[in-house]
Amino acid sequence: NKYVAEPYKVKVVEPIAITTWEQRKKAIEEAGYNTFLLRSKDVYIDLLTDSGTTAMSDDQWAGMNLGDEAYAGSENFYNLLKAVKEVYGYEYVIPTHQGRGAENLLSQLTIKPGDYIPGNMYFTTTRAHQELNGGTFRDVIIDEAHDSDSEYLFKGNICLDKLKSLIEEVGAEKIPYICMAVTVNLAGGQPVSMQNLKDVYTLAGEHHIKVMFDATRCVENAYFIKKREAGYENKSIAEILKEMMSYSDGCTMSGKKDCLVNIGGFLAMNDEELYTKATQMVVLYEGMPSYGGLAGRDMEAMARGIYESIDYHYIHHRISQVQFLGDKLIEAGVPVVRPIGGHAVFLDAKKFLPHIEQEKFPAQSLAAEIYLKSGVRTMERGIVSAGRDKNGNHHKPELELVRLTIPRRVYSYAHLEVVADAIIDLYQEREKIKGLEFVYESPVLRFFTARFKHV
Ligand code: F0G
Repeated sequence: NKYVAEPYKVKVVEPIAITTWEQRKKAIEEAGYNTFLLRSKDVYIDLLTDSGTTAMSDDQWAGMNLGDEAYAGSENFYNLLKAVKEVYGYEYVIPTHQGRGAENLLSQLTIKPGDYIPGNMYFTTTRAHQELNGGTFRDVIIDEAHDSDSEYLFKGNICLDKLKSLIEEVGAEKIPYICMAVTVNLAGGQPVSMQNLKDVYTLAGEHHIKVMFDATRCVENAYFIKKREAGYENKSIAEILKEMMSYSDGCTMSGKKDCLVNIGGFLAMNDEELYTKATQMVVLYEGMPSYGGLAGRDMEAMARGIYESIDYHYIHHRISQVQFLGDKLIEAGVPVVRPIGGHAVFLDAKKFLPHIEQEKFPAQSLAAEIYLKSGVRTMERGIVSAGRDKNGNHHKPELELVRLTIPRRVYSYAHLEVVADAIIDLYQEREKIKGLEFVYESPVLRFFTARFKHV
């Protein structure tokens, strides 16, 4: 069987909205053609994000009833610490309310004005925190990552030559750490190879530069290494993950993805000095170092989710669902980023809507049309998400994408078939789709709240 069946059965159900075209038209107009501003009650199949949208297991829900809500020294914190140590191998952990809470701590503690942070493609909140602290992000991902047609199997890899040039150009002392995402969200959920992780860590070590992972989707990365990299086919996900993390000095984690929870994250590291500084700072922004921004029950759910996530059957099914949707679209000739990534299928809006120039926001417009047609909610990941540079000009990313993000353990293959059919239909009538212009634009992370109208 090419697409593996669910390794779980359903115990609780949540009805979803079946809407009419007229209702959706009203809803998307009220939302200013921004899918972030839709109300979820108006959404049929919600592929906005895989973040915090996971269905937790019965064991995680049981854990929620074992919350030790002591202000300090909660038992659940120690369970989380144990899970992070056993599964990822890091010595110290600071829970945060979600991934960006950890990004805030790491950026404030390590970045000085004038510093450079190399990374394998930017992520919105990650870069925003780096810039807020006076740093400059430099993209050192391999060129293949910017080409939606390249079938390269590890499009998340860092280009060692680009990294070396940056070190020569600015000097190692101006690079507080290398930010390495496993997998790379905005490249299309593309993985990094073990070899590349090893090479980057070695190069960084020679220059005494730290490597910090954005470990948000590290289990998905481990799965791709098992399937695609020679020598790993017989290793377990747990073994691969442990080895991956050994090529880093720490990580920021959005637990809302691969830790299988609805809220939570952490900053983890091996360096005691950085840990001590982080314990001083976390009390200002999140809470005591033993709970960060989380309730005891949330830490318990995350600890249990970390163990569940390394089960081969879980991750095999997860990636299989994403692949299923991707294959349907590819068979119908719809332009998507290839290979299909770990958490989502990304439509190439430049190829889908070649008649709309990038400044008229083709991906934003396509996301709105998909909703209008089918009630399926997706997300723009193109020029709107990329924001503006210091001089106020749009960053113009090579990739202008609409992301169909698959929540973990939530939808069935039948749901994904509905999604594929709607997009294939829309592709047949794509010339009718028009561009957009801003009605409102926020200065930071504008994609969350921007409003648009048709040009
Ligand atoms: N890093 C990556 C790679 C992410 O995808 C996200 C969140 C974060 C960091 C920040 O984590 O949301 O817990 O604060 N990505 C979500 C998404 C929002 O939809 O891609 P957070």
